[in-house]
This record gives sequence, C-alpha cells and structure tokens, in this order.
Amino acid sequence: MKLNALRMKKGKAKIIMLTAYDYQMAKILDEARIDLILVGDSLGMVIQGYKNTKSVTVEDMLYHTRAVARGAENTPIVGDMPIKSDRTVEDALRNAKRFIEAGAHGVKIEGNRSKIVKTLLKAGIPVMGHVGLLPQTAESYRVKGKQPPEAQKIFHDALKLDELGVFSMVLECMPETLAKRITEAVMAPTIGIGAGKYCDGQVLVINDMLGFDESFAPKYLKRYASLNKIIKEAIAKFQEEVSSSVYPDKEHTYH
Ligand code: KIV
Repeated sequence: MKLNALRMKKGKAKIIMLTAYDYQMAKILDEARIDLILVGDSLGMVIQGYKNTKSVTVEDMLYHTRAVARGAENTPIVGDMPIKSDRTVEDALRNAKRFIEAGAHGVKIEGNRSKIVKTLLKAGIPVMGHVGLLPQTAESYRVKGKQPPEAQKIFHDALKLDELGVFSMVLECMPETLAKRITEAVMAPTIGIGAGKYCDGQVLVINDMLGFDESFAPKYLKRYASLNKIIKEAIAKFQEEVSSSVYPDKEHTYH
C-alpha cells in the first residue's frame, strides 16, 4: 500500500504500525502484513542502550533502514529523522533523500517544523508528523497536553501539519480526549502511542510489546509476549545440555 493510500483507512479500519530495526524482524512484520514499519530512533534505547534518542545519528538510522528494507518486501517503511538531521531545511532535505535511497518510503519528523515539512513534501518525499511527547527535545518523558495551554499548542501543531499535507501523524503520550479532538479535526490518519483508543491506528516499539525488557513499564504499554523469559529459558537449556554433553547429539552432528 502506498503511504498516501493510508488516508483511505481513516474512519474505516485501524492502522497497525510497529517498529523494526533489522532484517529478520522486518521480514516477520512483512509476513504478518501490518500496514507500516517505522524504523524509529527508539533504536537509541532498545538497540544501542542509550537513555534516550538524543545520541542517534543519521548514519545509525540509515544502517538500520537498509537492513529493514531487505526484509520488508511489501510493507511501506517510514524512516525516523533523528535529532541533528534536520537542523536546517537543507540538511533535512539532503538527509530525507538519503532515507529514501536507503529504502524508506517516507520520513517522520518530530514537532511542528513547517518549513522543513513543506520543503520535503514539495520534493515529493512523504512526511509523517509527530506531536505530543517529542522524545528528541523533551527534558523528561511525561504525558503532554494535560493543561489547556499545552493541549492547545499540540492541537494547533497537529492542524498545521495536516494543512501542510502529512500522510499521517503520530500522537505520543497525551490524554485520550485530546487525541480524539485531533483525530476528529484532521484529514491525516493519527497513529497513537499512549494516546488512547480514538486514534486511527496504534504503534508500539516492537521490543517493548514483545517484552524484551521487563523493567520498562509505562502505563500505555501492553506486553503481547514475554520474550525475555523465553530467551532466558532457551539459554539455560543450552547451557545445561552443553555442560552435560547432551548437545550436540547424533542428529546435530556431521558424519
Ligand atoms: O522512535 C520511535 O520508535 C517512535 C515511535 C515511538 C512512534 O517515534
């Protein structure tokens, strides 16, 4: 499905987006036929082990975008423009083009960066917006838009991005009443994370929803698997079987 065709799903069917950072996961998501894969700069935390996304570089993002593109033959890929990649309009355009060359079908930009969004769209690069909690610039991770002035700013930013023509927008960590107001006011489908059920779709970080790190437990996160436990059990079994010379057995040995 082309990115702009996502608009046709608004109000009809929910949009399913998940993050991926490597070939094998992208292949699984592709086979699962989700709507969109986001190569998120959340890789700063879940792949690189940083505390936030502020250290992620364009080179890091392009490396992972290429890997994901090799695995996702049919699913559109959105590349997350990391902090510092879009300091100027020129930088943003040059780097967005590199994402497209790396295999992304569009890019995501955090916040209301009107001039940049306009330029990329004019150059034919589909843009996904992102309002609410903006991890690249946030001082702390908290729900945004609980108070009227902040809610108004987020609402205004969403309207502006919609007017510019983003093909979709992420609504991150906000009260569901605000996400509902935005979703009803904009033409672009909204994709929520910690923004409640009224969004046009939902996104989660794949490592979080699969339960790799059980210490990460924000209120919005539902774990659909406990891979941490499954992986540890498999490793313990391997340790035990190697120690007791049960593995490799006849079946797993060349003769
Ligand atoms: O970086 C990311 O994975 C994201 C999603 C949480 C929307 O921006």
